[in-house]
Amino acid sequence: MLRIMFVCLGNICRSPMAEFVFRDMVKKAGLEDQFEIASAATSAWELGNPPHYGTQAELKKHNISCSGKRAVRLKQSDYDKYDLILGMDRENIRDMMRLFSGDSEKKVRLLKDYSTGGEVDDPWYSGDFTTTYNDISQACKNLLENLKQKIK
Ligand code: 4NP
Repeated sequence: MLRIMFVCLGNICRSPMAEFVFRDMVKKAGLEDQFEIASAATSAWELGNPPHYGTQAELKKHNISCSGKRAVRLKQSDYDKYDLILGMDRENIRDMMRLFSGDSEKKVRLLKDYSTGGEVDDPWYSGDFTTTYNDISQACKNLLENLKQKIK
């Protein structure tokens, strides 16, 4: 079993998009029973709120539902619970280093370390959920290929 956590500032735009895109890929690969997948926020700003309308609409274009998802906050105990904790931008990584008091087991990475490097475009500011989706789906595709080697 591999436990994967996606993290962003609010858990309403980027990380829920990554959670449900990755869930969809894992399901299509027939690997649902091999993974536990979640997403959470570094801030308390949006706790309890559903994904942003733009995230919901973008996911819907790809026949992916995120119904029932509500924003939750990343906890210190998540460091032990998850095998890989993927931030969307460098601020997420800095906030996690503070929450987890470092990263002794090298579990914390940027999601786009699996693709072109750098940060996932933040649609909260850009309003462009399609670019965010493309960023996320490319990185998640590579992530799944990478992890398939580990569960063989
Ligand atoms: P997210 O987007 O971190 O991708 O969920 C944001 C959500 C809320 C805010 C900023 C970014 N905010 O400033 O409230």
